[in-house]
Amino acid sequence: MRRRLIAGNWKMNTHWNEALTLVAELVHTEAQENWADTDVAIFPPSLYSRHAIEFIQNAKSGIAVGVQNCASTENGAYTGELSASMIREIGAKAVLIGHSERREYFQETNETLLAKTKLALSAQLTPYFCCGELLQDRKSDQHKEVVTRQLSSTVLTLSKEDMLTTVIAYEPVWAIGTGETASPEQAQEMHALIRQLIADAFGREVADVVRILYGGSMKPDNADALLSQPDVDGGLIGGASLKAADFSAIIRA
Ligand code: PGA
Repeated sequence: MRRRLIAGNWKMNTHWNEALTLVAELVHTEAQENWADTDVAIFPPSLYSRHAIEFIQNAKSGIAVGVQNCASTENGAYTGELSASMIREIGAKAVLIGHSERREYFQETNETLLAKTKLALSAQLTPYFCCGELLQDRKSDQHKEVVTRQLSSTVLTLSKEDMLTTVIAYEPVWAIGTGETASPEQAQEMHALIRQLIADAFGREVADVVRILYGGSMKPDNADALLSQPDVDGGLIGGASLKAADFSAIIRA
């Protein structure tokens, strides 16, 4: 049985005081509500991660903290980069890999993303590997092929053990930050495809364990319909993760 996982991707949002307030509000809400059936993770800007981790540890909260990116190389002369081992050392648990904004604005290729995934895994971080098609891919009915390609050259080449540790996030690019969501049926169709790809590569018992999140304008009012699909195991939430009330409403959905 897969546990539900709700993760908040803050992107390059919040300033210091807002970030502190948001972490405190989430910890407070968690204490008021019953989140026992759900794993919760947040991905604040990396500068704030260490503080968020300390705050969460002191409060004995179960919220995991991850970072939004890591380097595709080990430690060394890579100005501006953060290595997976540094990220692990400060107590972070997870890293987003291959978010569509990274692919689009930072030209990250599948090859780079596979290198990042492997470094994350060897640093004992959970990679949240993102995939998803562009609007033009969906319009030309290429969405399945595009996502299959994104996964075939990356996570589907991992070892079985590494696949079991990895989380997949299906995020149709046309639904990210646009207010337009995939319908529950569209999400289910793609999640089932992804699970089948994992089954073909690693066997059904692995496919049954790997969690596949949906991302793209998930909000309190559409979360329930999306999350009740059999292959949708949780959400990767952008905009709605910046308000504790909205994020917790999705956790309760
Ligand atoms: P959104 O972002 O919820 O604001 O659409 C999701 C994401 O980019 O992970």
